[in-house]
Amino acid sequence: MNSKNIRNRAEQMLSLEGKVAIVTGAASGIGRGIAVRLAEMGAAVAVLDKNAEGGMETVAGIERDGGSAIAIACDVRSRSDCHQAVERTVAAYGRIDILCNNAGIVIRKDTLALEEEEWDAVLDVTLKSVYLLSREVIPHMIRNGGGTIINTGSGWSLKGGAKAVSYCAAKGGLLNLTRAMAIDHGKDNIRVNCVCPGDIDTPMLASECRQLGENPEQFMKEAASRPLNRVGTAGDVANAVLFLASDMAKWITGTCVVVDGGGLA
Ligand SMILES: NC(=O)c1ccc[n+]([C@@H]2O[C@H](COP(=O)([O-])OP(=O)(O)OC[C@H]3O[C@@H](n4cnc5c(N)ncnc54)[C@H](O)[C@@H]3O)[C@@H](O)[C@H]2O)c1
Repeated sequence: MNSKNIRNRAEQMLSLEGKVAIVTGAASGIGRGIAVRLAEMGAAVAVLDKNAEGGMETVAGIERDGGSAIAIACDVRSRSDCHQAVERTVAAYGRIDILCNNAGIVIRKDTLALEEEEWDAVLDVTLKSVYLLSREVIPHMIRNGGGTIINTGSGWSLKGGAKAVSYCAAKGGLLNLTRAMAIDHGKDNIRVNCVCPGDIDTPMLASECRQLGENPEQFMKEAASRPLNRVGTAGDVANAVLFLASDMAKWITGTCVVVDGGGLA
């Protein structure tokens, strides 16, 4: 094969033309970045979020760029919301090839400060939702002969962090859930992987700064202190998700890609 053919083949492998994706938490930050990137590469995208207005803004942006998307209001903690969101996606686009379980919340407290309801809230949004939505989507993927699931973990899927007990528990669990699901559904030609972002410039990072009562400038300076010397962008994470969603990653399952500018190094 000459180099032009190889370039064409690589483009084909990254293309998502004809595919349908669901992205949760896609009204903001990383989820919005993922939805936009998948749409740019040709996927029709169902934008799920409890923030309906933000979801519609994501869809408007995708449509302005010539892509196809629908906004679906969905609280990922709710089994019936997850069921209805999947039904609506299939009614609109006929199939589901890619599921990005991205919605998450963080509460920066240690064990003694954290209330039981706060523990439940973080675990429900960040971990249980992945189980709820996946069990709705997987039967559709099996019917289509396969699919790919990408969960948004964190650097704290791989190590602990201060004042974030429920978040660390949820993100650590998410990575092992990813591995377990990959083992169970490899036979169905469903790949399950995780992206583990470091500090990414989104409303969540700003909220962490507020919760910790830290000076925003100092907080961002510390967040940026890593080998590649900057905080990440939603686009940095979306590129890794695109790779995992595409045929480029067709023999990759049950693992994670760390996107953190070298922070864990
Ligand atoms: N920003 C970072 O530094 C960072 C680092 C590592 C991992 N992450 C992870 O990336 C993911 C996205 O985070 P982000 O930084 O874009 O945050 P964000 O706050 O900008 O976006 C999160 C989105 O999730 C939605 N959401 C929250 N609860 C929901 C629910 N119950 N049902 C449906 N949607 C809900 C919010 O409305 C929001 O649109 C999260 O899983 C987060 O833990 C973020």
